[in-house]
Amino acid sequence: MPLTKEIKENTIQPHGGTLINREADTSLKEELLTVVDSLPAITLNPWSLSDLELIGIGGFSPLTGFMNEVDYTEVVENLHLSNGLVWSIPITLPVTEDKANELEIGSRIALYGEDNHLYGVLELEEKYTYDKEKEAQFVYGTTDVEHPGVAKVYEKGSVNLAGPIHLLDRPKHDDFVDYHLDPAETRQLFYDLNWKTIVGFQTRNPVHRAHEYIQKAALESVDGLLLNPLVGETKSDDIPAEVRMESYEVILENYYPENRTRLVIYPAAMRYAGPREAILHATVRKNYGCTHFIVGRDHAGVGDYYGTYEAQELIAQYEAELGIQILKFEHAFYCKSCENMATAKTCPHDASSHLHLSGTKVREKLKKGESLPKEFSRPEVAAVLIKGLQEK
Ligand code: ADX
Repeated sequence: MPLTKEIKENTIQPHGGTLINREADTSLKEELLTVVDSLPAITLNPWSLSDLELIGIGGFSPLTGFMNEVDYTEVVENLHLSNGLVWSIPITLPVTEDKANELEIGSRIALYGEDNHLYGVLELEEKYTYDKEKEAQFVYGTTDVEHPGVAKVYEKGSVNLAGPIHLLDRPKHDDFVDYHLDPAETRQLFYDLNWKTIVGFQTRNPVHRAHEYIQKAALESVDGLLLNPLVGETKSDDIPAEVRMESYEVILENYYPENRTRLVIYPAAMRYAGPREAILHATVRKNYGCTHFIVGRDHAGVGDYYGTYEAQELIAQYEAELGIQILKFEHAFYCKSCENMATAKTCPHDASSHLHLSGTKVREKLKKGESLPKEFSRPEVAAVLIKGLQEK
């Protein structure tokens, strides 16, 4: 859906000023489909397919394709694209050296999913090798292969293919059709709802009471909340997106004002890159039309790789350049003395009164078959999670 002038003028500027749309129009699609059988082909894993989709629909604006070496190096070393815009995580298309040798610069490459469906075409402009250890250290802050994002870096092919893409078909996301909007559509939605200020919320977990607390604290000062859960690839012990989506539906239905909240999927893969990923998350949500973005404790973190507020500290350095307002929240907990959710900023009681919640704790309890106390999770959410995980 193209952006109208009205929407362009009344929603936040996308990153770089233009909302990218790389979906092939009818005539280009016809042209590409007639030649596609003669093109060299590669199969994208789910991670690369989600990157293709996000480039195609403009979630990764201003990117029009997979990064070339100059952009890649600048992003890894300096958190910027070569055009000077802030960008924190490389968006690349890695293949094996053998595969790369078969592909000629200047040719078009057909991009298939693991389901053998044709999703796009790459205009191959460049191939380059890269230093995995450096990428791991700079982007993830560690070379430890126990880190799930770093493990992915080491698993990848050693040559990156670069160039603009054409998206021929979007992944369907059959389980989430009602919540599958692209950035042009969310912008239209916010405009129609007359929301001028919108806070985006990233999560890869079911919404627990600490999430709810910080979302609602944010909602006190903006017009609307975009609950924007990541539904792309996550590590195997995270709660599957299908189960989470049902839990989001019940919590919104029972505890949030309908006219001030919307649920839309974020189809990306989770990198677990903590501070760097917080910047990517904020950038993408700006492209979806959010004016504000929440960064709480250990945003996009995993294990003990990042400090509790490291993501907030890093993103603060780039906030002005990013052009989206970051709402930073302290570690929230349930206080038995306050009988309420709180943070160190709002609660005078000592730690013995505090019940600390996290996605990890929720997952641990569910795995052991333990019930989730109401201070952790709304009962309707707990019921969906228990049922959903039993069925899995
Ligand atoms: S993730 O995508 O950032 O890994 P997660 O579900 O753990 O997802 O967190 C979503 C958001 O809520 C992040 O901004 C995170 O910092 C914040 N958050 C999670 N738990 C808490 C908490 N107890 N207190 C404050 N912020 C939290």
